[in-house]
Amino acid sequence: MKIVFYGAGNMASAIFIGMIENHVVKPEQIYLTSRSQQEKIMFFKENLGVNVSYDDTELLDGADYVILASKPQSFPDVAKRIRPHLEKKTKIVSVMAGTQIKTIRRELRTENPIARIMPNTNAMVQHSVNGITYSRNFPDKDQLVELMESFGTTVVIEEDVMHNITAATGSGSAFLYFIYEKYAESLVELGFDEEEALFLTRNLVIGAGKMVEDSELPFSQLRKNITSKNGTTEAGLNALDGESIKKILTATLNAAANRSEELSKDDE
Ligand SMILES: NC(=O)c1ccc[n+]([C@@H]2O[C@H](COP(=O)([O-])OP(=O)(O)OC[C@H]3O[C@@H](n4cnc5c(N)ncnc54)[C@H](OP(=O)(O)O)[C@@H]3O)[C@@H](O)[C@H]2O)c1
Repeated sequence: MKIVFYGAGNMASAIFIGMIENHVVKPEQIYLTSRSQQEKIMFFKENLGVNVSYDDTELLDGADYVILASKPQSFPDVAKRIRPHLEKKTKIVSVMAGTQIKTIRRELRTENPIARIMPNTNAMVQHSVNGITYSRNFPDKDQLVELMESFGTTVVIEEDVMHNITAATGSGSAFLYFIYEKYAESLVELGFDEEEALFLTRNLVIGAGKMVEDSELPFSQLRKNITSKNGTTEAGLNALDGESIKKILTATLNAAANRSEELSKDDE
């Protein structure tokens, strides 16, 4: 199998490192190209054993997958590079947020199979949640899912659900980090110094994450397990207004999903 990445930035590297570390592909099956980050991609070549090339004929010769991993605004340039050399057998997989299958098809002027995936940066620790959607003519879907599951879990969705997945899990980590940030700031209000507050919050988050990972219990049960009648946790929870928090989070997610929709309209 030959997998070619156009773009070797944060997301692309999280993906190919996951694939290599989980032995779903060998380093020599991966080809990288970028526009200008020669040093960075040479680092990957020397340390991982992947191939690096700036020659699109060489890159696309016999490619099974081309992964579109540049920023959406660079895609017209990337499409220009790919277009003349694209073979019929090559499947296109885009990680570009907001760029629709019909836009990719139009820019590449191709009928080749196209899939879009929406991973998140937790791919770097092999815990991405990947939304995935395919064009109707996409063959071997299981093979693509297997490749994508080397750096996380996969949810197959219709393309119009991509905006919600982008909000929920693509941007979602940032929303959770923001809450942790505010938690640490509140610890400072309580009397800890900044360093202590960050240390305590960081370890609290890591521990809570491990509890979520290890137990089969829903969040509500994990919460109840540490809430005794008239205890300190109950006193704290009574001060938290769940409905207000839900409202704020719903507004946050709606804003992100709406922005994803707007961005996808820009390129129509
Ligand atoms: N980061 C996230 O959390 C996240 C989550 C989901 C989806 N995504 C999507 O993933 C994509 C990449 O994001 P990123 O954070 O990895 O961005 P990034 O770190 O800026 O990487 C973009 C890469 O594209 C390359 N590139 C630009 N123009 C090119 C061209 N003409 N030919 C070949 N390569 C070219 C860049 O190389 P040069 O520097 O040499 O130009 C760079 O290696 C975006 O479309 C984004 O929507 C990101």
